[in-house]
Amino acid sequence: MSQPVIFLPNPALPLVEDALDREFQVLRGATASTDEIQKAADLVRGVSVFQARIDEAFLDRFPNLEIVANFGVGYDAVDAKACAARNIMVTNTPDVLTEEVADTAIGLMISAVRQFGAAERWVQSGNWERNGSFPLSPGTLRGRTLGVYGLGRIGKAIAARAEAFGMEVCYHGRNRQSDVAYAYHDTLVGLAQACDTLMIATPGTPENRNAVSTEVLEALGANGVVVNIGRGSVVDEPALIAALDKGTILGAGLDVFADEPRVPTALLNRDNVVVLPHIGSASIHTRNGMGQLVVDNLVRWFAAGEAVTPVPETRHVKPGTRRAV
Ligand code: DGY
Repeated sequence: MSQPVIFLPNPALPLVEDALDREFQVLRGATASTDEIQKAADLVRGVSVFQARIDEAFLDRFPNLEIVANFGVGYDAVDAKACAARNIMVTNTPDVLTEEVADTAIGLMISAVRQFGAAERWVQSGNWERNGSFPLSPGTLRGRTLGVYGLGRIGKAIAARAEAFGMEVCYHGRNRQSDVAYAYHDTLVGLAQACDTLMIATPGTPENRNAVSTEVLEALGANGVVVNIGRGSVVDEPALIAALDKGTILGAGLDVFADEPRVPTALLNRDNVVVLPHIGSASIHTRNGMGQLVVDNLVRWFAAGEAVTPVPETRHVKPGTRRAV
């Protein structure tokens, strides 16, 4: 029997490319022309994606698509509801990246609070030798309270690390969680009032777009630090820039942005902001783990008719039930 055809819109890790070549026929967006992709569209049964937008228009192009295997735990670029409506399975890569992202979040938090970005630039630019010691940081981790927005797997791993640093932890999310002793706040403003270090670890959804608003930043206060390891869309970036300019908050550590890879100039080269290029999970070790899970999902789907890590919206989807809309 011929192998299922998998569409790979963008190049993937060598581990993924090699495994897909072993298990499937691969149609590569990087090498096939638009015409070739169009001609093969009816044959495509799976797609493996990393940060590529999968919307209604994409789904219309591939009438026999059964599964979208997303590289990443966040699948905001995939319209999972549209996939569910057509009985298309969507999978993501949870768990394998939890500890890596939590490590990055803590590193980013300390860098932002203690201004390590500016301190490194001080050394790199020769200022240390020319002008002496780097100025004392206005912020310290001592006595800080961490407010976790989104206490999922990653949020909990961050909270556990923060406790080891002696931080108080509280959280906000859709629901109070019975298995944690951290204080719960049923609004984001309430959380911001209760903490001085706001850790955003929530997925990006249409509902929480720009949730970290002027009101939230004002509630966080003058000693406040925003750390975003979730999605850029959750923060109202112009409001954040204004809050940094006016001293409404102390600083920010940002791994994600609203319009990646474009970062607003106003967030660059400032002592009170540390920026990273969306590297929360980006070690070879962890990215290979994520890649293997993408491959495992595709292989299990076509061999056994089930996914390893389906997203909640499509957990019910079974093979052979693709629906036209
Ligand atoms: C994720 O897994 O969602 C990370 O942000 C990488 O995209």
